[in-house]
Amino acid sequence: MNLAVNATERDLAAAVAEWARALETRIGPAEKAGEIPRDLIAELSELGVLGMTIPEKDGGLGASSLAFALVMEELAAAWPSLAVAVAVSSGIVAGSIVRYGSAEQRARWLPRLTDGRGLGAFALSEPSAGSDAAAIGSTARPDGSGYAIEGRKQFVTNARYAPFAIVFARVGAVDPVRSHAGITAFVVPLDAAGVAIGPAERKLGLRASDTSALVLDGVRVGEDAVLGQVGAGFALALAGLDGGRIGIAAQSVGIARAALARARTYAKQRRQFGRPIAEFDGVRFPLATLASEVDAARMLTLRAAWLRDQGRPFTREAAMAKLYASEMAQRATHTAVQIHGGNGYMGEYAVERYARDGRATTIYEGTSEIQRLVIARSLVAG
Ligand code: CAA
Repeated sequence: MNLAVNATERDLAAAVAEWARALETRIGPAEKAGEIPRDLIAELSELGVLGMTIPEKDGGLGASSLAFALVMEELAAAWPSLAVAVAVSSGIVAGSIVRYGSAEQRARWLPRLTDGRGLGAFALSEPSAGSDAAAIGSTARPDGSGYAIEGRKQFVTNARYAPFAIVFARVGAVDPVRSHAGITAFVVPLDAAGVAIGPAERKLGLRASDTSALVLDGVRVGEDAVLGQVGAGFALALAGLDGGRIGIAAQSVGIARAALARARTYAKQRRQFGRPIAEFDGVRFPLATLASEVDAARMLTLRAAWLRDQGRPFTREAAMAKLYASEMAQRATHTAVQIHGGNGYMGEYAVERYARDGRATTIYEGTSEIQRLVIARSLVAG
């Protein structure tokens, strides 16, 4: 395994880290307002981040998954809300269009993800279909030369910023034996007639990142809206989520790293019982344990990214990375708050926000329980 990135990719990760560190004063107001400022989306476009996973022939930077994981870690260390918005748009959405899109679809939609005017959305979950993604009730009824889509999507990241969403809906009747049969991916422009975006969800954390419902009421799309093959949408969704899980693992590493950095600084400054609390083993040992776990999580994440870059199977490794990194992020943010004592519970200290933001990582793009299911299946298969 070679975890080195090339010089251009290294420079990009460093440039993103520097840019993201300078956002400090923007975070509080944006989290309070519940939105990512549009000028920052435009700056991400100028930096090349929005198109970094898109091949050069399609107008992107053609960076590796390894480089993308490093950039995600840097974004998340600075601002987790921004990181998840980018993870979804540049990761799962761009990746699905690149992998499954026709030449026309790539030419039409990829520039909309990179022009800095918006961020893409992935609309799979529904009120009654979360972990059991094949249970979706959205339908796409053949209608003239295209389809009419009906359904209600839930927890759609970036819905409010998205020029389009990849929407999963079923063509044909439910098959009780093969529950994912008929599920098809459609590229749906969100200004199409019949699309309504629900109110933004009020969340524990990641408040600047948009999470909204998408209501599709007889939305007409042409046959050219089908991404991949009719009926092959479930595999497309799961393959996309495999890649997305590497992004969430990297986000978890960034959150944990940043929370622990704050805890270390605090522990060296805060004096109790006549000395800095960093001199007490009750503070030093958890920091030591978690510093090791952050590195372990990063290695799992980069291994999954490397396998993906090699074109090798990485489903299990992505699930392992996401499972371990997201659960580690819970321990890390919990410890960071604990080391800050009463101050850690207060809004002025960033560890409070990292703890709230990090909580989502064991849930979205597949809960820890789903990651265990994916890993366990691969262990006992065959
Ligand atoms: N890649 C490609 N295809 C895959 C696959 C993968 N990793 N895993 C399975 N498949 C294929 C199978 O080969 C099978 O295909 P065929 O029968 O056509 O050959 C088909 O998918 C069905 O496979 P399963 O029988 O294994 O499917 P299942 O219904 O038992 O469910 C699951 C599998 C792992 C539980 C899956 O439903 C899952 O991952 N659930 C979690 C969903 C999830 O992560 N949701 C997050 C939504 S996005 C989000 O979080 C919001 C956001 O924007 C951040």
